[in-house]
Amino acid sequence: MLDTPRIGVIVGTTRENRFADAPLDWLMAIARKRTDARFETVDLRDYPMPFFEEQGSPFYVPPANEVAKAWGEKIASLDGYIFITAEYNHSISGVLKNALDYVYAEFNRKPATFLSYGGAGGTRAVEHLRHILAELQVASLKWNVTVGMTEMLGIMREGKTMADYPYLVESADKMLDDLVWWTATLRDGRQGQARIAA
Ligand SMILES: Cc1cc2nc3c(=O)[nH]c(=O)nc-3n(C[C@H](O)[C@H](O)[C@H](O)COP(=O)(O)O)c2cc1C
Repeated sequence: MLDTPRIGVIVGTTRENRFADAPLDWLMAIARKRTDARFETVDLRDYPMPFFEEQGSPFYVPPANEVAKAWGEKIASLDGYIFITAEYNHSISGVLKNALDYVYAEFNRKPATFLSYGGAGGTRAVEHLRHILAELQVASLKWNVTVGMTEMLGIMREGKTMADYPYLVESADKMLDDLVWWTATLRDGRQGQARIAA
C-alpha cells in the first residue's frame, strides 16, 4: 500500500510584509485537517537562489548551486503542489520564475493548482504560471482559490482576516478534493511506469 501523497504549498513571494502569509496560514489550517494527503509549506524565503547562472537548462545539466540542489530535492520529494501566487505586473514574481528555472524533472508528471491574489484575483499570474508549468510537464488544474481586491483590502486596511470571507472555504475544499485525486492518480501512474521500466 502506498503512503499518503505529499503536497507542497509553494509560497511564491518573499518580500518583508508580504500578503502571502494571510492566505497561506488560512489554507494550511484547512488542508491539515485532511487525512487523504500530507501538506507542507515550501517557502521560497528558505531557498534564496541567485539569478539563474548555471551551465545550462536543468533539462540537460543539474544545477551546481547548493541552495538550488536543496530546492530541487524538496520538489522531487513531493507528489503535488499548490502555488500561493501574487500578481506582479500581470505575471508571477521574479523570485518564483527564477526558482522554476532551476528545476525540471523534479516536477514532471505531477499536478499543481493555485491560490492567487491581486486586483483581478491574481488570475493573470496564474495563466502565465500555467504556461511555464506546461514546459515542466506539470498538469495544471481547473479548480483554484482566487482572492480578489475586496478581500485583500479588507485584510490589509480594515483588520479583517481570511475567516471573514467564509465563501472562500468552498473553493478551497473543491480545489483540495480535486488536487488530492490528481496527486494520488498521477503518483500511481508514475509508480506503474517505474515498475514497467524495471
Ligand atoms: C512589483 C509589483 C507589481 C505588481 N503588479 C500587480 C499587477 O500587475 N496586478 C495586480 O493585481 N497587483 C499587482 N501588484 C500588487 C500586488 O498584488 C500586491 O502588492 C500583493 O500584496 C503582492 O503580493 P505579496 O504581498 O505577497 O508580495 C504588484 C505589486 C508589486 C510589488
